[in-house]
Amino acid sequence: TERGARAPTLADVPYLFGGQLTERQADTRPFVPSKRVKTMYDEAHLSYICENSDQGPAGEDQQSQGTRTNGTNTPIPHAETSGGKSIHTTPAAAPPTLPQIEAIRLGGYEINTWYISPYPEEYTRQRILYICEFCLKYMKGEYVYHRHCKKCLVRHPPGDEIYRDGNLSIFEIYCQNLCLLAKMFLDTKTLYYDVEPFLFYVLCEYDKDGYHFAGYFSKEKRSAQGYNLSCIMILPSKQREGYGKFLIEFSKYLVVIHSPFISVEGGYLLTRKEGQVGSPEKPLSDFGMLSYRSYWRRAVYELLLDVKKCGGGDGNSGSAATETAAVSIKEISRQTGMTPDDVISILQTDGMLRRDPGDEDRYVIRVQEDDVREYLEKSRKKAPRRVDASKLRWAPFLIKRPTTPFGDAVQLPTLASAQVRSAGTAIASGGDGSTSDGG
Ligand code: ACO
Ligand code: ZN
Repeated sequence: TERGARAPTLADVPYLFGGQLTERQADTRPFVPSKRVKTMYDEAHLSYICENSDQGPAGEDQQSQGTRTNGTNTPIPHAETSGGKSIHTTPAAAPPTLPQIEAIRLGGYEINTWYISPYPEEYTRQRILYICEFCLKYMKGEYVYHRHCKKCLVRHPPGDEIYRDGNLSIFEIYCQNLCLLAKMFLDTKTLYYDVEPFLFYVLCEYDKDGYHFAGYFSKEKRSAQGYNLSCIMILPSKQREGYGKFLIEFSKYLVVIHSPFISVEGGYLLTRKEGQVGSPEKPLSDFGMLSYRSYWRRAVYELLLDVKKCGGGDGNSGSAATETAAVSIKEISRQTGMTPDDVISILQTDGMLRRDPGDEDRYVIRVQEDDVREYLEKSRKKAPRRVDASKLRWAPFLIKRPTTPFGDAVQLPTLASAQVRSAGTAIASGGDGSTSDGG
């Protein structure tokens, strides 16, 4: 081809980011500090050093002290560092006050924050922190943010798209910026800088502009306690729309299996193994508890009605769903993927666990069928978002073509479809070879 013949366009100039910026927008000269500004800075710096020289080290050193305050003067511990180094706890005269970022600007929203997150100190000095909703980069000023939005070519979280249903997608990613963002709405969790032991599942709303961040949950790759979810957070601007419960339901489908007999790269089984149970990491926040209770209630109630319809469960003694059907806690646990403790907790909360009048040592499950039916009908009317297991995909390269509709993509070697076809028992082999256990 005659390469030299074509006149260069804006897109050819590297600093114009493929034509995203005009020449005027790309010109940084107006923002280079003048001689006068540099002198002012030097003077201010010098006078600061003189003022503080006899009070011992300050400034940066204060950052390494053990506590920071959250604006209400309640000291909160520093997050641990990945190196596991112990944290200085030298008692300072007064702990340095770390201003809390009041709000974040993300996508089209300005969202008030709930808790302190350990962003680098220079980022916590402004009222608003700006975050790119696609790459999650955080920025101090509106000007920089707008420039970033012009230049940022990322249109989805940095990872593999593993689920798509309508305008909803879920990506599996690694990201420290995500932890920092989430910490602004999570009180109960310690923030670890070492994100390696975790996988992050990011929920996005898709539209013509790309995949917009809505929330996420994290999960340990291997959990000694059998937790299938570590932290969950939905952006306040997207809460109360059923996304929390949707992700909780989704989490039960992600089961990591470690078996020498399974040839799937990374050992993922994207449908739940029969009998596999999981529970969220404790403690739960108030909202976490509300969401889990609501999810557990629906799961248990749906099962109880199913048992009734089929006229019986496993026939185990010790519990009766109605006069005609019986099901044990173990069976409810097996079928819902909830731990027996979680099953008991929801039955107890709803007053369904009673002592057997005929045998004081036994408990029975007593169900008011009308109440259960009414509850489920009401909740169905809210048109909740449900997970469709057949929409799970293991398709790492799909995201490189963000405009390709999910359904129209070329046939991919997916785990999920194979699993679903064979009723969740067979193990599919394959994968495209580029999968890994962490994305
Ligand atoms: N007040 C009353 N009920 C509420 C509230 C609220 N503020 N928020 C949620 N609920 C109820 C809903 O009514 C719903 O029940 P229903 O379906 O029976 O009506 C249920 O909880 C779930 O609602 P969703 O809309 O699915 O949940 P949402 O998308 O709002 O997300 C979440 C819930 C993730 C807990 C969100 O509130 C959040 O991000 N909070 C801040 C972070 C947090 O606390 N995370 C949990 C920490 S614990 C852990 O991570 C294991
Ligand atoms: Zn970006």
